Amino acid sequence: MKLLITAGPTREPLDPVRFLSNRSSGRMGYALAEAAAARGHEVTLVSGPVALPPPKDVQVIRVVTAADMLAAVKLHLKKCDALIMAAAVADWRPARMAPRKLKKGRQQTLTLELKRTPDILKSISWLKGQRIFIGFAAETHNLCAEARRKLRAKKLDLIVANDVSRPGAGFEVETNQVVLLAPDGVAEALPLMSKRAVAERLLDWLAVRVRRRS
Ligand code: CTP
Repeated sequence: MKLLITAGPTREPLDPVRFLSNRSSGRMGYALAEAAAARGHEVTLVSGPVALPPPKDVQVIRVVTAADMLAAVKLHLKKCDALIMAAAVADWRPARMAPRKLKKGRQQTLTLELKRTPDILKSISWLKGQRIFIGFAAETHNLCAEARRKLRAKKLDLIVANDVSRPGAGFEVETNQVVLLAPDGVAEALPLMSKRAVAERLLDWLAVRVRRRS
């Protein structure tokens, strides 16, 4: 199978030395790419800025902003059978990027105007065709309700719901605890496990789904 996977945060520049971003380390997406390549899948990984080595046998495309990530996903979507959006795409970007470093001068406060970045999954849902789309939902409250809302709104085949406020789950750690939610209402709560093990479970789900369809 040909898989397109996204990972890591995006960075939205404010000036040449500053950006808006989030705490994503990229570990979940990289674990997925590594596990998928080890199973013999052809993997393209669109990665935001992370401090991880490129996984073996994976084509890595590096991007910085949400707009860059959208362009790379659009470009590589055509030749893939499934898309897994593990990236923590920044939702907001500074309305303007200053060409020079912003000087604080005598100001005591600073108000920034922010604009929405593109929602990658929503922007490409019309290109879905027969492809399988999997998303992640990082939540601190109302985990399953929020994840279900995103599953519907983004026309996904599966959403991996992730309570990032739990110890050992979510950002910057080696482990994760997730619930897999499908549109037919089926939910599978996985125990706390390594991100590689979560990746394997997700790829198992994908294999069953593809087998059922053919
Ligand atoms: N996502 C995306 N484009 C964005 C933001 C998120 O494609 N601009 C994708 C993520 O990669 C993830 C899914 O959408 O697979 C859900 O992301 P999440 O950050 O949990 O939700 P949001 O869409 O940002 O919604 P909210 O702000 O309500 O949490």
